Amino acid sequence: MSRDAVIDRAAEQVGRAQADKALRPTIAGFFDEATYTVSYVVHDPATNEAAIIDSVLDYEAASGRTAHGSADRIVEYINTNNLKVMWLIETHAHADHISAAPYLQQKLGGKLAIGKEIIRVQEVFGKLFNAGTDFQRDGSQFDKLFEDGETFRIGELEGMALHVPGHTPADMAFLIGDAAFVGDTIFMPDFGTARADFPGGDARQLFQSIRRLLSLPDETRLFLCHDYKAPGRDEYAWETTVKQQREENVHVKDGVTEDEFVEMRTSRDKTLAMPNLIMPSVQVNIRGGRLPEPEDNGVSYIKIPVNAV
Ligand SMILES: [Fe+2]
Repeated sequence: MSRDAVIDRAAEQVGRAQADKALRPTIAGFFDEATYTVSYVVHDPATNEAAIIDSVLDYEAASGRTAHGSADRIVEYINTNNLKVMWLIETHAHADHISAAPYLQQKLGGKLAIGKEIIRVQEVFGKLFNAGTDFQRDGSQFDKLFEDGETFRIGELEGMALHVPGHTPADMAFLIGDAAFVGDTIFMPDFGTARADFPGGDARQLFQSIRRLLSLPDETRLFLCHDYKAPGRDEYAWETTVKQQREENVHVKDGVTEDEFVEMRTSRDKTLAMPNLIMPSVQVNIRGGRLPEPEDNGVSYIKIPVNAV
């Protein structure tokens, strides 16, 4: 199916959900202020089947200690509401936080899913971290690799995966009913868009991916992976709509050309520091959120490549 045909089908899915309340998901956002990440629990109120999107494992860089405070808030919500976890979805291999998906999978079940292009990300970072041949670069650390336009279900709800590369080659947006979980593509309209300067990132692709998402119906609900506030705004926010983004997004509202965007994004990215947790995050997230194999003393180590990035 062509990319245009996929987005047409996605728009039809939104239309069906807008016409029928039973096809709209219940959504809870969990904000992690340490990494500015929003994790979501999305469920079908008719069957209580649920997906967890972009969970966070707490990690203190200085001590190398992990903790489960953020993940346990999700466990509690799932248990309190008697939800059945079918999917643990990653919109991409995050560079700013470690995924808690394996911890949640062990507690709650569900299939671990990411975009198929994760294989390319594993290739790039497998090399950078000099991971041995025991590190498989075939996505086998995940239970499901989604392709553009692939559909899935959460109870009665319709879901569709959309490939939205640019921030990384593997970024996916997940459309569930009338709600799109857009990962790191766009942020709130007053903040703009995700950076496109990580290995394999591409500002031109990012623009095209975002404009593709913004071709969905005006009322499509958009849920973001991060919020950093913006100058003049005091509250964190993570929900918006296609219409609002097309009218107001400071980087990609209607009328901004691809070349203008690429020029802005490229020059802005040059001023941004690497995320604090990029080394541990990427190393763990390309393994499906699992720590590297423990060494012979039983301890797992995170590597830092010196002068290589
Ligand atoms: Fe990201």
